[in-house]
Amino acid sequence: MPGSVTLKAGPALATKHAAGASLSAVKHQAHECQRCDLYKYATQLVFGEGPDVAKLVLVGEQPGDKEDVAGRPFVGPAGTVLTECLREAGVERKDCYLTNAVKHFKYEQRGKRRLHSRPNAGEVQRCAWWLGAELEQIRPDVVVALGATAARTLLGAAVKVTRDRGRPIDIGRGFWLLVTIHPSYLLRIRDRETAARQRRDFVDDLKTAVKLQTRPG
Ligand code: URA
Repeated sequence: MPGSVTLKAGPALATKHAAGASLSAVKHQAHECQRCDLYKYATQLVFGEGPDVAKLVLVGEQPGDKEDVAGRPFVGPAGTVLTECLREAGVERKDCYLTNAVKHFKYEQRGKRRLHSRPNAGEVQRCAWWLGAELEQIRPDVVVALGATAARTLLGAAVKVTRDRGRPIDIGRGFWLLVTIHPSYLLRIRDRETAARQRRDFVDDLKTAVKLQTRPG
């Protein structure tokens, strides 16, 4: 059909990963990762966090400044918004597995501040291996991509957050995929009404993910 887009597996889902390994073994290996240069500048690798068996996995872009220091995903301002919105959608953060497409913080040093810098395609491609390995171990029902970097890692370059958000996507990997905005976007909106509307839409997307919690097929 003209204009239609078929979404397919992105780099995280394109290959088989760690058959037989446990999630903690994958985590252990990840801490040795030198697949790209980001490990040289970050404080530490930030692996995913949550139950080994989780129905719902949420994938962000990369750890921020606070996450890099704490060694845990989503512990900064975006994590606070995400935790609140998950609760409004009917699920507690502790019951979800939270992770990132890229596991090391990429930043630009400006004086004393470390400013977020978007990972490039090569960094995303190399790090995707870890996300694929996490998903193989966890075998969730639903994977939510928070923002464009996570969406491309899971669904390739054809995915568009504005066009594809909020609708369940099945690419035959045994779990639903759902694309939505990144919660940090909500923190950047200046206009109060727009911010409130966008927040409601984000919670609605999370509610869709919560309702989907049975495997496709
Ligand atoms: N933003 C992300 O994408 N991930 C985090 O862990 C924190 C902020």
